[in-house]
Amino acid sequence: MNQSLDLIPFDKKIKLPDIPDHWDYDESVSKVNTFVYKWKTLKDEAPEVLEELWIAREKLSVSHSDAANIMHGTKVPRTWTNYCEDIGSSRRVVNRWLQNYNRLQNQEERQLEIEQLSEKYDHEDETIKIECGDFRDLSRKINDESIDIIITDPPYPYEFINLWSDLAEIASRILKPSGFVIAYTGKLYLLEVMNRLGEHLEYYWMMSYKMTQFPVVHPRRVNVTSRPILVYQKSPIKSQDEYFFDGLDSKGPEKDDHDWQQSNDTFEYIIKKFTKPNDLIYEPFLGSGTTAVCAKKLKRRCIGHDIDEDAFNITKGRLAEN
Ligand SMILES: C[S@@+](CC[C@H](N)C(=O)[O-])C[C@H]1O[C@@H](n2cnc3c(N)ncnc32)[C@H](O)[C@@H]1O
Repeated sequence: MNQSLDLIPFDKKIKLPDIPDHWDYDESVSKVNTFVYKWKTLKDEAPEVLEELWIAREKLSVSHSDAANIMHGTKVPRTWTNYCEDIGSSRRVVNRWLQNYNRLQNQEERQLEIEQLSEKYDHEDETIKIECGDFRDLSRKINDESIDIIITDPPYPYEFINLWSDLAEIASRILKPSGFVIAYTGKLYLLEVMNRLGEHLEYYWMMSYKMTQFPVVHPRRVNVTSRPILVYQKSPIKSQDEYFFDGLDSKGPEKDDHDWQQSNDTFEYIIKKFTKPNDLIYEPFLGSGTTAVCAKKLKRRCIGHDIDEDAFNITKGRLAEN
């Protein structure tokens, strides 16, 4: 048993200190996954970090027993029966933890593969041009009215809300007249997101996609089963060429490369319906690069940006692979 676990206050009634600011998390990511991830990252570090993690358990809404299992569990042999016996927990809890653990193991292997692939990324590719940095700076290089469509998935937490206004303003400059912005978003701040987009663009429609994993939005006590996809247009409003379904199914989460990774199938559907081959797509928030990967597959051009170097390298790896 890990000695440092002695430091963990197991008494539920204990008054826990405030959650440290840097334990911020994304509403859309499973809390248990976030906790397992942080535990894996920090377990070899100082005991005070473990204590902090235990405190963060509250904020991540990971139950007392789940957190204890996760933290104890990494020290016992990893077979299903051993887990149940050693930590005296139910099969359901242990199974759930093992699933998360195995997923993270697969992710680690995949990350190594992606890292190697990213070195093979073709910087000369004229059709898919990606750069690491803040889209508010990098997009200045994009000519006025040169982009056919923006397909994107900005970060959901409220601290990023201003980016929606920036996105709308930049879109109104770089999009061709009647060009679309199609943006995935969450529901918690939907009204404000729409108001901000509406500062520079016209509302056209709202699509949604059915999720295959159901993250919880704790402040509203909701298990989320669908996500909105906003469709805005630079004026003048003009009918889209093709009819499209506004409720999309996704085959499943594709989160092997990045926690925020969206599934390719909904992006491919949108690209096929809203663009023609060789059209130029702009993606200011690449993340793991789903938009760019799908654009490349469907023979559209794409300019993409992301501020995060790790995410950017994943995009390079995925592009080199496809
Ligand atoms: C929700 S994720 C995109 C996930 C992506 N759709 C995928 O499938 O992987 C949002 C991304 O926006 C990036 N981001 C946040 N602020 C940014 C900024 N100012 N400029 C560029 N990228 C930014 C984050 O680093 C993150 O990778």
